[in-house]
Amino acid sequence: MFSKQVTDSKTFQWFDERLEIQAISDDITSKYVPPHVNIFYCLGGITLVCFLIQFATGFCMTFYYKPNVAEAFTSVEYIITKSASAG
Ligand code: HEM
Repeated sequence: MFSKQVTDSKTFQWFDERLEIQAISDDITSKYVPPHVNIFYCLGGITLVCFLIQFATGFCMTFYYKPNVAEAFTSVEYIITKSASAG
């Protein structure tokens, strides 16, 4: 459901030729959603996304975090100040 102004633009056409954005959009917007479905039906999806973020960040932590009394603080210090994730 893109406006004509958007679909006529060269940028849109460039992406559409490669990624079939229009076809994907038509497929998603043609799905029937029952009328009783409300905002609370997002909760399952939100929980799933939160879990995936936990999983991904936890996996990253396994590279640097040392979960023992002697090294925990220094490893967190390293993550914050020196690792690739440090600003
Ligand atoms: C990590 C935990 C969970 C995840 C990731 C999860 C995920 C989801 C997702 C994605 C849906 C479909 C979309 C929605 O309706 O939100 C769903 C539906 C549902 N979930 Fe969960 N869920 C979790 C835990 C639970 C628990 C603990 C219960 C009940 C004790 C539960 C009961 C239901 C029910 C009854 C539906 C169907 C809702 C409907 O279509 O009327 N879920 N869940």
